[in-house]
Amino acid sequence: NVDTFVSFDGYVVREDPTNNVPDTIFAKLGMQLHRRKQHPIGILKNAIYEYFDANYPNKFDTFDDLCPIVSVKQNFDDVLVPADHVSRSFNDTYYIDSQTVLRCHTSAHQAEILRGGHTHFLVTGDVYRRDSIDSTHYPVFHQMEGVRVFSPEDWEASGVDGTDYAAQDLKKCLEGLARHLFGAVEMRWIDTYFPFTNPSYELEIYFQDKWLEVLGCGVTEQEILKRSGKLDNVAWAFGLGLERLSMVLFDIPDIRLFWSTDERFTSQFSQGQLGVKFKPFSKYPPCYKDMSFWISDSFTENNLCEVVRGVAGDLVEEVSLIDNFTNKKGMTSQCYRIAYRSMERSLTDEEINDLQVDFFFPLASERPGAEQV
Ligand code: PHE
Repeated sequence: NVDTFVSFDGYVVREDPTNNVPDTIFAKLGMQLHRRKQHPIGILKNAIYEYFDANYPNKFDTFDDLCPIVSVKQNFDDVLVPADHVSRSFNDTYYIDSQTVLRCHTSAHQAEILRGGHTHFLVTGDVYRRDSIDSTHYPVFHQMEGVRVFSPEDWEASGVDGTDYAAQDLKKCLEGLARHLFGAVEMRWIDTYFPFTNPSYELEIYFQDKWLEVLGCGVTEQEILKRSGKLDNVAWAFGLGLERLSMVLFDIPDIRLFWSTDERFTSQFSQGQLGVKFKPFSKYPPCYKDMSFWISDSFTENNLCEVVRGVAGDLVEEVSLIDNFTNKKGMTSQCYRIAYRSMERSLTDEEINDLQVDFFFPLASERPGAEQV
């Protein structure tokens, strides 16, 4: 079949005009860092499992091998994401075709697992988002989702209604989890909005002089429970970012390191050892390049970042807008600074100049000096 170009886990991906998944991203499917016992992400997953095991023995069912290719219905409709929500856009989400995406959150599995009759569960997996580039953002990362369903007898004796009861239980559970992982750490709750929970909160922890958002959570929208046949119940849900937490716990300074196969990184972690501080083997010097161009209305920073990653891969550390100028004719030019830095070696200016030629001549055959064919 000529239009079949790649397959994953029995799922055959066909060429489709809406496909915006570059090969470098597709190559991450199946890596499953969260299932590696010696990897910081796997170590953290197991430490969270431990907390739930200790506090709710044999209660939570765990899922960590669900396919990251999901339907638009699973990723968005089933969790009540409005039709016009930005997260549905091609700018924010990787589409395989118009009805199929790389899940942008583990919430994509909530509804089906609830329909399957589970009332306490944790779902861990790789999630995919188009985004800007800096030391805490990478287009593939890992989340753990937790859901707990209550029955009327759980809250009836408490004197508060089901929603308040679930909200209090949720905060208590997650504060306990944060203490289990961090010991003493400064945290704060922020009110926020998610389509699938109400009320909704974010938990932030203080790290490297900044408040870092580590999880989103809330009381599950009644409509989600209703659709799974749970008319009298109340539930909470949370989704936490495993990289963010690991960076804090293990002192990992850059999110790209999670993907490093350099032994100087991988050998520093072992099973069950949470919070061993990572010793940087060296901070190699950065190489900065500024690039300015006129932009059209359809320009987005996420698209630029995808192009930059396509050219530079994991050598790019940060892409930041440093100048924005609109002339009298209404044309806008922007200047971006690209910071290149390898985690593993020193880069040379020449090598980055050579690499950058790809921005202007994506095909080697079009480069100045290339042999004409
Ligand atoms: N899915 C949300 C996110 O990725 C996190 C979340 C999960 C929030 C469950 C509330 C409840 O940002």
